[in-house]
Amino acid sequence: MLEELNRLEEEALKALETAEDEEALDQWYRAYLGRKGAVTRMVRSVGTLPKEERPAFGRRANEVKQALEAAYADRRETVRRMALARALEEGAVDVTLPGRPVVRGRLHPATRTLREIYAIFADMGFQVYRSRDVETDEYNFQLLNMPPHHPARDMWDTFYTTQEGVLLRTHTSPGQIHAMREFAPEPVRVILPGMCYRYEQITARSEIQFHQVEGLAVGRNITMTDLKGTLAEFARRMFGPERKMRFRCSHFPFTEPSVEVDIDCILCEGRGCPVCKHTGWLEILGAGMVHPVVLRNGGYDPDVYSGFAFGMGPERITMLKYGIQDIRYFWGNDLRFLEQF
Ligand code: PHE
Repeated sequence: MLEELNRLEEEALKALETAEDEEALDQWYRAYLGRKGAVTRMVRSVGTLPKEERPAFGRRANEVKQALEAAYADRRETVRRMALARALEEGAVDVTLPGRPVVRGRLHPATRTLREIYAIFADMGFQVYRSRDVETDEYNFQLLNMPPHHPARDMWDTFYTTQEGVLLRTHTSPGQIHAMREFAPEPVRVILPGMCYRYEQITARSEIQFHQVEGLAVGRNITMTDLKGTLAEFARRMFGPERKMRFRCSHFPFTEPSVEVDIDCILCEGRGCPVCKHTGWLEILGAGMVHPVVLRNGGYDPDVYSGFAFGMGPERITMLKYGIQDIRYFWGNDLRFLEQF
């Protein structure tokens, strides 16, 4: 019986070495030390031994039990440590890896150009004046010298609303009237940036919405020379000192005389290319001296005051500056385009 007990102890200790997790440990415990375990059963069988062998067997059995309990507790601790080490290794974070780059936003190319324009005109004393996108027929046309049914209205295909006489502004020029009525009879020097809307076929060259920046200066003794000087300075700062500028006669109902302003083509420097349609010139804005009727509508006496106005499209200017072929990129929300600026 004693031999058997020794053999059982040896077997149990060996089996314990192979227990690698909690479940195996529990199983092992049940097999040897549990209520129906091999060791427990053997201890109980002490009664079947001859009387004189019982004390020695009993002592040895207790020793074995205690040894196995101790080995079991040891092994449990080892298994716990192994499991912890494994978990740490599996979930390890390599703190030396470089971080994930943060995706940075940026300004929309139209916003960048707008801000450049603000800065250039701010240096010449122009304030930014904001006015509404939803306008009345009166401000968008009538006060700008275009009575109902005036054929010049055809230059602006218009989004009308369901409310009589209310429309989306087709240009920033109605802001001229708002500004003049606010400042008259004091002199005005403002630029009016904002979104404009036209009911047009969308093509590479035209969109239904786009920015304009209007300029307006009203005061005493303002002449065409001032307009020329102001625009020349603008073109120099926006496109570089080597650009040439050209004034062409034109017509707008709200300016007299009216001009359109070109710069020599940035790409071919005037030699002729597809961008300038082989003319050597790029149109950048419309301008003129504020029409006497418009001055009066704004609250100024045209016999005392005079002024100039101009209107430009920042998207168009951006296209010229960066050689962008299609205006639809601006509002297409394609990051591949936007990320280039
Ligand atoms: N409002 C004109 C347009 O949209 C541009 C312009 C503004 C022309 C001011 C003259 C003076 O085409």
